[in-house]
Amino acid sequence: MKECRWKGFSFLLVVSVLVVFSVGACTSMKEAKKEAENAKVPVVEGAKYVGSGACADCHEGIVEDFKRTIHGRIAGFEVKPNMVAEGCEACHGPASKHIEEEDPAYILNPAKLEPAQASAICSRCHTDGEIMDWRGSEHALNDVSCVKCHTIHGKKDKMAYREKLGYRHKHVKDTLLKRPEPELCFTCHKEIMAKTNYPNHHPVKEGKMTCSECHNPHGSIVEPLLKTDETLNELCYKCHADKEGPFAFEHAPVVENCTICHDPHGSVADNLLKQNEPYICIQCHGLHFHSAIRPDTNYIVNNQEPGHSCPPGFAWNPDPNTGGPGCAPAVVMPNSHAMQMVMTTRCTECHSAIHGSDLPSLATPGGGSRLTR
Ligand code: HEC
Ligand code: HEC
Ligand code: HEC
Ligand code: HEC
Ligand code: HEC
Ligand code: HEC
Ligand code: HEC
Ligand code: HEC
Ligand code: HEC
Ligand code: HEC
Repeated sequence: MKECRWKGFSFLLVVSVLVVFSVGACTSMKEAKKEAENAKVPVVEGAKYVGSGACADCHEGIVEDFKRTIHGRIAGFEVKPNMVAEGCEACHGPASKHIEEEDPAYILNPAKLEPAQASAICSRCHTDGEIMDWRGSEHALNDVSCVKCHTIHGKKDKMAYREKLGYRHKHVKDTLLKRPEPELCFTCHKEIMAKTNYPNHHPVKEGKMTCSECHNPHGSIVEPLLKTDETLNELCYKCHADKEGPFAFEHAPVVENCTICHDPHGSVADNLLKQNEPYICIQCHGLHFHSAIRPDTNYIVNNQEPGHSCPPGFAWNPDPNTGGPGCAPAVVMPNSHAMQMVMTTRCTECHSAIHGSDLPSLATPGGGSRLTR
């Protein structure tokens, strides 16, 4: 969608190949969007509304079951401004011709319509709340209609199906889903399904939380379909409030985006990390001296005695031979043993406040923070 921002500038820049390209990309996105937005409920020529009473003659079972569903219980006045008809015909369109001819060709079946047309039926009434951003959503733009996920007439065995799967679903709220989550989402999102089987994952497949606690499948102003109006991090803070600053000493990538280090769906590494330590850290940081200390050196990393601060590049390091205290150059060349230590050391053994800290590091001259406490 970023390309579209260029559109405004294209009027200003008279000759620019780049702009021509970006407008081109923009147009195809826009066409898909337009298609979804302009989709209309198809018209059955010559048909009139006759009311739900007429349906029972031929669809007795459906009419009976329908009374027990949420749509069967809504009164016309509740949705009047948007509605074209009450009852069955609110979704199926005017039925007179269908009844005269007893022909399914003259009635609308959302399951058989173009996806955007089917959604247009539902969107007559469902335009706000969670459904507000539907029209520009990834699902709408990719032909995933409302009825791919929802069923109106219902699966009577839905609860039985849940039990069969053995889920301890805390979410028993029935939103007319064709299948409970996460199975519903897994039918199409196989890559995500694979990740939820990794050793570390949010407890989604255990039924303790759902995909839709993090995503709004109906659309969002925050990509990809995230259930927040603000930033990706805000979503995480909803449940991980302790990671929300402001901290006196922040860690830049944490403030920027949690998914720089974490994969929310699952990981082989611990703590949902995209890679284990130290590898995740050394993408951005060099290996530093502390993680490369020779084990035979009597080396004090943290100067915990007040008044013993060393200049930059030096650390508090009593001489093992003389026993005398003093500031020594901080860099010890890594030998092979030390390299091994680096690879087996978790940086967060020392940098335990990796998400941010309010406390200055003890060994840091000038009171800055190395996120050690
Ligand atoms: C006189 C009998 C009759 C009446 C009355 C009737 N239908 Fe039907 N309907 C049928 C037949 C026959 C079919 C095709 C076979 C089937 O699916 O059961 C059908 C199929 C349908 C379908 C499926 C269409 C498809 O393409 O899959 C819908 C939706 C439908 N009817 C809605 C309604 C609604 C809504 C009413 C009341 C306003 C209604 N019908 C009244 C006979 C009737
Ligand atoms: C809120 C929208 C909505 C209302 C109201 C509604 N239907 Fe449906 N109907 C659907 C959808 C969507 C389908 C496609 C199958 C599905 O997803 O459940 C469908 C499918 C059908 C079918 C095809 C057979 C089947 O079960 O798939 C018939 C027949 C039918 N409806 C009849 C009725 C009758 C009769 C009423 C009123 C008592 C009614 N519908 C009210 C949305 C609706
Ligand atoms: C005539 C207006 C109308 C139409 C058309 C309509 N709905 Fe609804 N729907 C409602 C109302 C009213 C409710 C009650 C809850 C609410 O206010 O959102 C509701 C509730 C729902 C719920 C929530 C059920 C729950 O347990 O909370 C779902 C899901 C839903 N509709 C899906 C659909 C789908 C899918 C379609 C299109 C096939 C559709 N609706 C068409 C008016 C409509
Ligand atoms: C990709 C799957 C998917 C699609 C497509 C989808 N929904 Fe939903 N819908 C869900 C899930 C999952 C929930 C339950 C989670 C929740 O409450 O947020 C839900 C919940 C709802 C609710 C209840 C919301 C509430 O506040 O409790 C309504 C109403 C609804 N959907 C209507 C629609 C309509 C209308 C469309 C099409 C415009 C649609 N849905 C398309 C998956 C989908
Ligand atoms: C009928 C198939 C289908 C179902 C069911 C479905 N999705 Fe999707 N989803 C798609 C398609 C197709 C896309 C767009 C292409 C893509 O990015 O994979 C998409 C896109 C998404 C995206 C945005 C991806 C991006 O890169 O921007 C998210 C997030 C998502 N789906 C989550 C869900 C969740 C959560 C559920 C279950 C509530 C769900 N989907 C159910 C087919 C489906
Ligand atoms: C803890 C929150 C959370 C949960 C639970 C969650 N997601 Fe996501 N999902 C995200 C975030 C955050 C992103 C963006 C990832 C990024 O930018 O690296 C994302 C991205 C996606 C994408 C886009 C493609 C991709 O791989 O990045 C899809 C599709 C998706 N999620 C589907 C699902 C499905 C299906 C479920 C349920 C099995 C689910 N998500 C559960 C937070 C979550
Ligand atoms: C709806 C609540 C919720 C949201 C939103 C959420 N989480 Fe979680 N998170 C949890 C739960 C529940 C656990 C599991 C805690 C447990 O097992 O004790 C968890 C665990 C974790 C873990 C530790 C995993 C482990 O192996 O112990 C990490 C890392 C994590 N979440 C990161 C994130 C990130 C990043 C986001 C934002 C993209 C996020 N979470 C959004 C609820 C949430
Ligand atoms: C620079 C990489 C990085 C970033 C960015 C990051 N984390 Fe972490 N996170 C880690 C590491 C490393 C661990 C393991 C720490 C440990 O074992 O002490 C961890 C552990 C966690 C845990 C589980 C252990 C605990 O402390 O509760 C949660 C939850 C978590 N992170 C959430 C988040 C959230 C939310 C964000 C975004 C605000 C975020 N992380 C951003 C590196 C990061
Ligand atoms: C995406 C890049 C990135 C990753 C991954 C990352 N960091 Fe950072 N880190 C930064 C940036 C940028 C700063 C701020 C640097 C500055 O202010 O000079 C920083 C600052 C720090 C600081 C404070 C340094 C100072 O000068 O005060 C420590 C300590 C630190 N990171 C440790 C880690 C550890 C441990 C990991 C692995 C768990 C890690 N970082 C992963 C980018 C990253
Ligand atoms: C044995 C404890 C320890 C381990 C393990 C450790 N650090 Fe440090 N690190 C420190 C201390 C203490 C400082 C502060 C030094 C100072 O201020 O003079 C520091 C400073 C830093 C700094 C600030 C810039 C610098 O070089 O002084 C960064 C960045 C950093 N560490 C990253 C890492 C990374 C990445 C790892 C893992 C590969 C790691 N640390 C492992 C203790 C450790």
